Amino acid sequence: MAKNDAQGSTQRSAPGKPASSWRARLVRDLEGDVLEIGVGSGANLPYYARAGRLWAIEPYADSADKARRVAATLALPVTIDVAPAEKLPYPDNSFDCAVSSLVFCSVNSPQAALAELARVLRPGGTLHMVEHVRPANALLGALFQAVTPVWSRVAHNCHLDRTTVQTLRDAGWRVTVEDCRNVFVQLTAHPPAPVEPAPSSQR
Ligand SMILES: C[S@@+](CC[C@H](N)C(=O)[O-])C[C@H]1O[C@@H](n2cnc3c(N)ncnc32)[C@H](O)[C@@H]1O
Repeated sequence: MAKNDAQGSTQRSAPGKPASSWRARLVRDLEGDVLEIGVGSGANLPYYARAGRLWAIEPYADSADKARRVAATLALPVTIDVAPAEKLPYPDNSFDCAVSSLVFCSVNSPQAALAELARVLRPGGTLHMVEHVRPANALLGALFQAVTPVWSRVAHNCHLDRTTVQTLRDAGWRVTVEDCRNVFVQLTAHPPAPVEPAPSSQR
């Protein structure tokens, strides 16, 4: 995606909606053990070119089944579990990378989902996101905020007014915005260092 350039070199599937090449850019270089949250019907799965193994979660069983059907066509070993991002069914330090595409608009608690992602990423692990966010323009931002209560009811809890980049930063993540086009942001983020328990005082 070219910065703030709706008509850049990236192919587009529809006005305002990035074409599938953004999916390739998001996941094709990720290596090792990878987790994708909110995998939906598996639209990203064909684009993992270098991952060693992929785990994915999706809260809706019917969508998870669709993703499993896509996964079955791939050489990549994929495990798809039915779970929400706020309660990941994996031990601490399980993954080298995590992926979220168009999911943080819909999760019930972005903060809880980020805490879970920080928990399951290994030291040095990275989160890779494409999300739509509240427009920076004040008027548009207010408009998106105004329609969100109705929109979220008809669009599976999708919020048009989430400030996801700021939410990451507020949670202590180190964020690099890779690209930004209209309301779509692609970023890489490193989780905050885990808080060490205070040494118990010995007398
Ligand atoms: C717009 S779809 C995007 C699907 C897929 N990531 C993609 O890029 O095509 C939003 C996805 O987020 C999932 N989702 C909603 N709430 C979630 C939650 N709490 N935890 C994980 N995924 C969630 C939805 O079920 C849906 O699959």
